[in-house]
Amino acid sequence: MPTIQYPCFEGRLPEDLFRAVWALHKKVFGSSISVRDFRERFERKRGLVCVLAVSDGQAIGYKIGYERNTDEFFSWLGGVKAGYRRQGIATELLKRQHRRARKLGYKRIITESGNEWRDMMILNLTNGFGIVGTCTDQKGGAEDHHGEAPLRKRSLESPSVSPGLCVSALLARVVQQ
Ligand SMILES: CC(C)(COP(=O)(O)OP(=O)(O)OC[C@H]1O[C@@H](n2cnc3c(N)ncnc32)[C@H](O)[C@@H]1OP(=O)(O)O)[C@@H](O)C(=O)NCCC(=O)NCCS
Repeated sequence: MPTIQYPCFEGRLPEDLFRAVWALHKKVFGSSISVRDFRERFERKRGLVCVLAVSDGQAIGYKIGYERNTDEFFSWLGGVKAGYRRQGIATELLKRQHRRARKLGYKRIITESGNEWRDMMILNLTNGFGIVGTCTDQKGGAEDHHGEAPLRKRSLESPSVSPGLCVSALLARVVQQ
């Protein structure tokens, strides 16, 4: 099996890699987002950090986050191409992202994960995250669920959830005091 490389980028990705991440993101999440909309979502973020997993010149995994405030880094989007899973790639991406965030001076990593993303939830919980809140809203898809909006609605909600509402957990991990 070819060696996997994990390049890390701060700020904008080079165009070829940006498009490779867009294509991978669409596959991983079954999304039809246009490259224009995907770019627009990126351009709104400050302090972007993108860690990629590349095998044989092909992007097979990605982990993207951005600054939420001077202390907090939000781990936003991530996935590993089917066929490459359960080999520790997402774990490596997470570790590298957290190491970089710590080096950049952030104190906490925040992320959000829902019932529909159990594999990521397990991965997060086994890597030092704890649940610090929940968010309930009408949005179901990953496209809507990983932006800034749900964080505004964060609260400990009633456990009874109406049909159509989507519950996700807000997770945090301290990376330095
Ligand atoms: C979640 C995801 C990124 C995990 O990628 P991966 O490279 O397979 O993860 P790893 O190999 O590093 O797995 C690390 C650990 O996470 C947990 N895990 C990962 N996939 C799992 C699964 N299908 N079932 C149960 N646990 C799982 C396990 O604890 C695993 O350790 P183990 O293999 O020693 O048991 C991948 O499944 C994916 O891209 N899923 C679709 C996109 C997604 O869910 N994104 C997150 C949205 S919030």
